[in-house]
Amino acid sequence: MKAGIFDSGIGGLTVVKSLLENNMFEEIIYFGDTARVPYGNKNKNTIIRYSLEALKFFDNFDLDILIIACNSVSVYALNEIRENTNIPVVGVIEPCVKALENKVKDKSSNILVIGTKATINSKKYEDALQKLSYKNVKSIATGLFVCIIEEGLFEGEILASTINHYFSNLGNIDAVILGCTHFPFIENKISSFLNNAITIHSGDAIVAFLKTEYNCKNQFEKTSIQFFASENPNELNKVAKQWLKDLI
Ligand code: DGL
Repeated sequence: MKAGIFDSGIGGLTVVKSLLENNMFEEIIYFGDTARVPYGNKNKNTIIRYSLEALKFFDNFDLDILIIACNSVSVYALNEIRENTNIPVVGVIEPCVKALENKVKDKSSNILVIGTKATINSKKYEDALQKLSYKNVKSIATGLFVCIIEEGLFEGEILASTINHYFSNLGNIDAVILGCTHFPFIENKISSFLNNAITIHSGDAIVAFLKTEYNCKNQFEKTSIQFFASENPNELNKVAKQWLKDLI
């Protein structure tokens, strides 16, 4: 089974990690639109246009499934992508909402959603959580994290002061949806600042979703994987090697 994974940059590698740890696919084709990252501060029409252009890239491969490993694309362009391809397309929002529902049973828990401006402004998470009767949901756009992560600053002063800037006045948080696939790179820093709140990670959420909704199994001993980027593919390959270490 061959899967395409699409993100604006390196964020989708966090989803790839979960897929590899669970032996989900025989072959993975990764595309990061690094020439145009970040997507999360662009408007809806631009995100749709970029996403449909990225979809064309995957025409060269005979995919069985396409995973949109990007929240900003999932909130704004999922329908348009689906209308332009015949293969199944999986976004990240529904899997993350399901993962939260499974992990957080108390509907009065304090839930925090963080993501890019696009993701937060779309209100997709807030609306879905409201439908599920969660009463205390806060959401904040934390787009600076994307640039910090693309710069490889996974620790240090800049990250610490940005975390402080976004999170210092939040009060108690029980669970946080990492509503951007870049954020698992700094998951430990976020969750320790939030007193080890439960974290919802797009990659793990997608694995669970693929198992229940698409009957995907933990079945391929080896995954062959190719990485492509619209700019500076060497840098993306370097991060992939560090992040995915002995998985590739
Ligand atoms: N990783 C992407 C997401 O999940 C977006 C980052 C960006 O390009 O702004 O939203």
